[in-house]
Amino acid sequence: MGAGKTSAARAAGAALGARAVDSDHVVEERLGCSIEDYFAAHGERAFRSAEEEAVCELLEHPPSPVLSLGGGAIASERVRSLLAGHTVVLLDVDEETAWRRAGGRRPLARDRSRFAALLAERAPLYDALADAVLLDSSRGVVRHAAPALRALAGAPEGTKLVWATAASGDYPVYVGDGLLGSGFAALEGAGHVVTDRTVGALYGDAVGKGSRVEIEPGETAKTLATAGWVLERLAEAGLDHDGHVIALGGGVVGDLAGFCAAVYQRGVRVVQIPTTLVAQVDSAYGGKTGVDLPQAKNYVGAYHQPSAVLADPLTLRTLPGEELAAGWAEVVKTALIAGGTLWKRVRARAVEPDRDLVLACARAKLAVVAADERDEGARQALNLGHTVGHAIETATGYARYRHGEAVGLGLLAALTLSAQPALREEVAELLAARGLPTRLDPTIDPAAVVAATARDKKRRGGRVGFALVEAPGDVRTGIAVAPDDLRAAVAALETA
Ligand SMILES: NC(=O)c1ccc[n+]([C@@H]2O[C@H](COP(=O)([O-])OP(=O)(O)OC[C@H]3O[C@@H](n4cnc5c(N)ncnc54)[C@H](O)[C@@H]3O)[C@@H](O)[C@H]2O)c1
Repeated sequence: MGAGKTSAARAAGAALGARAVDSDHVVEERLGCSIEDYFAAHGERAFRSAEEEAVCELLEHPPSPVLSLGGGAIASERVRSLLAGHTVVLLDVDEETAWRRAGGRRPLARDRSRFAALLAERAPLYDALADAVLLDSSRGVVRHAAPALRALAGAPEGTKLVWATAASGDYPVYVGDGLLGSGFAALEGAGHVVTDRTVGALYGDAVGKGSRVEIEPGETAKTLATAGWVLERLAEAGLDHDGHVIALGGGVVGDLAGFCAAVYQRGVRVVQIPTTLVAQVDSAYGGKTGVDLPQAKNYVGAYHQPSAVLADPLTLRTLPGEELAAGWAEVVKTALIAGGTLWKRVRARAVEPDRDLVLACARAKLAVVAADERDEGARQALNLGHTVGHAIETATGYARYRHGEAVGLGLLAALTLSAQPALREEVAELLAARGLPTRLDPTIDPAAVVAATARDKKRRGGRVGFALVEAPGDVRTGIAVAPDDLRAAVAALETA
């Protein structure tokens, strides 16, 4: 209710040259009265049974390629099983917006708390049924997404699509087991693969037979010098605006190749194909690209949204255990920011590094980026744990800790600063259970870490604003922290 199904279906119909059919209208025609009146006279059970009949007929003999379904129709098992033969598109809408649009106007939207409970109850069903999720269905988004929705039919079984939106552009995110090597192509034109030596050997051939540049694996390769070298190789290979870069690998390759794509001939397209947990749950989305300087992390870069993201969770099977562990820090971070079901599942350790986890984290991050692409407000929440995490990486020359390990330690420091001892304890246990460090190596000087936070690129007006946790799902940003408190929080990493 209130997701905008009718107008989105109309737009999808227009994109396909057809007139969309709305199941609520068909039901009303059959009943000979409005849904409200039928509800009032006969109750919900009678309505659901009439709705089930009508919707099943529509799904068995679709009068149009686009059907918009009443919000409650999926409660019927018959409807759910018939939906398996269709591409199901979920319009993701938050409760606030849905209530603003539908509140008070429909039989099941008279009472706010009942409405919220209904949405929460249906959400897991919607998520399970959806082949594609549109995070925003306004302003022509449906028309942009239509080719990707059609392309989904050619992707391996079980592949899901999230249509990402950002101020500077929209793009499809495909998440599916076996996407690599399935021949599923996200873009026309010549792809130039940028990868690292390890990933190139494992997956290079699955991605393409065109040009391939391989950098050294690991964070120490994320430099301007490497970027310069890659740019020259792309020029030698003849990349132009008809072609695109394929960033195949972890966050290091994604950030570096994305940066090269952003500046090469003032910008060519990039397809992100993330192969680590860090990259699949976080770094491949949102368009932040760049390289490190010895002075500070990610100090040179550009916003450059990908043209598409293809995440194949099966690639995580070859990931070394320590790299998988590093990814859990970003999972825990994302869950703390998102709160709700994701946090519930993460704290209950009821998640595995699979399609559903990748999808849930991608959706959580993309919802934030959709609201604030350039870190001017809401997006700063995604830096939770990163101010101290990045400082640890810089202070140790990017060689002592993996990015995810440093973020895990940074999360603990952020929770100390948030005055959340119980949550800090719980998060430390979650990180430790996945094999992540929860103590800073005592040979590292906390003062060097504190000094490195001062160079954080988020500094404004001479001070660094921290992202701190009020509660899971409620992260506050731009918070000033007293120098003594910061020193104490970093020092606590060596003792607590
Ligand atoms: N742009 C963003 O929004 C964003 C967000 C989070 C992190 N990051 C960046 O991501 C980087 C960290 O990324 P990472 O943790 O993926 O590290 P990484 O890219 O260095 O990859 C880790 C290691 O795993 C290997 N590897 C990758 N995929 C593999 C596979 N499927 N099988 C076997 N080995 C594989 C790589 O060769 C590498 O040695 C950091 O530089 C961080 O700043 C960026």
